[in-house]
Formats: sequence, structure tokens, C-alpha cells
Amino acid sequence: MKADKILKNFSQIFCPSDIGHPLRGEEMSDAKVIENGYIAIKDGKILAIDSGEPNAELLDSTTEVIDYTGKMATPGLIDCHTHLVYGGSRENEFSKKLNGVPYLDILAAGGGILSTVNSTRDASFDTLYEKTSKLVDDMIIHGVTTVEAKSGYGLDWATEKKQLEVIKKIDEKHDMDLVSTFMAAHAVPPEYKGRSDEFIDMIINEMLPKVKEEHLSEFCDIFCETGVFTAEQSKRLLQAAKDQGFKLRIHADEIDSVGGVDVAAELGSVSAEHLMVITDEGIDKLSKAHVIGNLLPGTTFSLMQDTYAPAKKMIEHGMAITLTTDSNPGSCPTSNLQFIMQLGTFMMKLTPIQVLNAVTINAAYSVCRNDSIGSFDEGKNADITVFDCENIDYPFYFFATNLVSEVYKNGNLVVQDRQLV
Ligand code: NIG
Ligand code: FE
Repeated sequence: MKADKILKNFSQIFCPSDIGHPLRGEEMSDAKVIENGYIAIKDGKILAIDSGEPNAELLDSTTEVIDYTGKMATPGLIDCHTHLVYGGSRENEFSKKLNGVPYLDILAAGGGILSTVNSTRDASFDTLYEKTSKLVDDMIIHGVTTVEAKSGYGLDWATEKKQLEVIKKIDEKHDMDLVSTFMAAHAVPPEYKGRSDEFIDMIINEMLPKVKEEHLSEFCDIFCETGVFTAEQSKRLLQAAKDQGFKLRIHADEIDSVGGVDVAAELGSVSAEHLMVITDEGIDKLSKAHVIGNLLPGTTFSLMQDTYAPAKKMIEHGMAITLTTDSNPGSCPTSNLQFIMQLGTFMMKLTPIQVLNAVTINAAYSVCRNDSIGSFDEGKNADITVFDCENIDYPFYFFATNLVSEVYKNGNLVVQDRQLV
């Protein structure tokens, strides 16, 4: 079959293996790295990938051939945990952080997430749409081609719906693909203060059915944490969500270990998020239940802590992990997944191959899009991130700057010379 486009002469191409499930344990250290390689694209999908000169059968006079000498390619990066849609910003909390005021104390005093809830309730749909689109532009310029995005700064139906509709519209209009997660259980809103059980009941009985009916999200998530929602409440909400056909995630063991990991394992959650303070027993449970650990080292960094999730230990115990930004206005204001990947090596001591597997094939499983993205298997979407460097180690050496020069989405060039096309 003839290719529409051939990208050739890459000094290296990182090819993660899609073996039918997320890479676990030792599998995370495996990947094929093609030297002097090419990628052939047909109808926006991967047609062929190999080293050397493209086979003559792939070419005719209409095939566009682009030379990438001196550059390195990976499957489009996937950021599988973000809170992208919000009003305002929270730099006013910075001095509190510097003075050691704990994140949960700021929240308990009505700040933190609740301050973003106020600004998000106040923001119009258009304001949120414009603001989020800019963030998404910045993410694609940094090499991300699919991003998961949660609601959770509304906590009332009108605002949660507004956030989810922003996600939906950006998914439709923007080159980026968005995967939506409903997370009204992100904090207890002031109008339910002291009545968190009733808030959970309201989410179950009133919000979940509407989210389903209006096709606004496929995942449901909850913040299981001291002073926010208990493990019992998390289990109740997630069981109801599962019964209503949602796939599950849970913010667990971020600051305190209060049982969220057990809920994830028991209910078969697709992923458990954060896991900064997970116990050995917790690792064992997630490993046995095949729950993916979505790890967010940028949050540990931004909260100025040293409790990075024990990523190496999780891998040693057979878990599948991803690395993701958590992009949000409080605990991790960033749009740069490359920096998070570098924290994976610098702070978690993962290898470049483990990190690249984490943000490609494993992240594809985490957003349940493994049939179409995350690797260069024939027939998958031609989502390709091109780094302006010769090998897969360089992006872990030259840190905190954007090394992505080109991005292809469904075979179309959407970023060139570090700018949107
Ligand atoms: O994943 N932990 C809860 N939620 C977000 C933070 C949201 C915020 O601070 O605005 C997180 O870190
Ligand atoms: Fe989060």
C-alpha cells in the first residue's frame, strides 16, 4: 500500500510495545528503539515503521517525504490526569506554601480548591473555553496529543456541566483529543459544609445520571483524603458510578493514607492517582488488582515536599505506572509534561525507557484509548512527537526547556518549529 506521508531519517524512534495490557513491572523496561528510522502514514494512521530507506512499495509520486535527520520521535505523549478547566489562579497561596502552611489547612480554611470553585462558578463558558484552549495549545506545543481532563471546580450542577461542556467543545474543535472525567467529589462545597454524606448522595442521585444521559464523561473520580472524602464515601460513590456505567479513578494516598487504595483495588478502578504515601501493602493490592498508578511528581515538587511516590518500588512489585502533570491551579500549575518526565528520572530514579513507556503506552491504557494510541502499531492513529535531539536519553539530560519541535496529530502536522501550524 502507498503511504500519504513518510517521515524519514530519524536518528532514533522510540517504539513501545502494546502487549494487550499496560506494561507492568519488568515489562516497563522493554522497548524497541529503531535507529535511522522512518514512519509511513496512510489516511492518518500508522502504515509502516522500520529502519533504513522506506520500501519502494510504500512510495509513489504523490507521497510526501519529510526528512528528520538529527531528530528523535516517540508516539504522541499522553497526559492522563489533569484538572484543566478552571477560573482564576492561586499564586496568592505561594507565600503560605513557602511558610509551610499545609495544603489541607489552606483547603480547610476555605481556600485552595474552594477558592478556584468560586472563580470557576463566576467565569462564563466563553472565558473558560478561551483559557483552557490556551493551556491545551501549550500542551500540544510540548508534545502532548491526548489529555485527560476532570471537572471538580464547580461542585454544583451548573458549573460542573459548564466545565464538562468546555472539555467536550475543545475535544471537538482542537487538534488535541480530550478524555473527560467527572469529579464533582473534589471537595465539599460551602453549601454542604458538615453534610458531606448528603453531598455524595446528591452526586449519586442527581449528577451522575445527568452526566451519563448527556454523554459528558466516561470516568468518575473522587478525592479520598483526610478532611475531604472518606474511603467509605469514596466506595459508595464509585460503586454507584460503576453501576451507572462509568469507569473509575480515585485520588488516593496523596497526603494521608486513608483507604483509597483499598477502594481502588476492590472496585477494579482503572487507575489510582498520586500514591505519594502508599504503603507496601497498598502497592501489593494495586499490583494484584492491576490498577494503574497515575503518578504526579510535579505535585510533590510544587507542594515543596520530598515524598515522591515510590515509583521504582511499585515497578519492582509488578505495577504499571504512568507519569502525568496533574495540571491544575493549586498543587501543580504547569502545562509541561516533559518537565514531569524529567522529575521521573531526576527524583524517582526511573530510566528514560520506563518514563517514555509511562507517558505513551501505559498512559493510553490509563485513558482506555489503547486501541488507537500509545504505540506505533500499524493502524493506530499517526500521533507523533518529534524531539529536536538525536536520542531518547537527551530529553532527560537537557531539562526544563521545550525540546519538542514538531507534532503530528492523526497524520497532520500541527506543530512545526515549536509553534502551532
Ligand atoms: O490532584 N488533590 C486534589 N486535587 C488536585 C489539586 C487541585 C487544586 O489544588 O486545585 C490534585 O492535586
Ligand atoms: Fe489531581
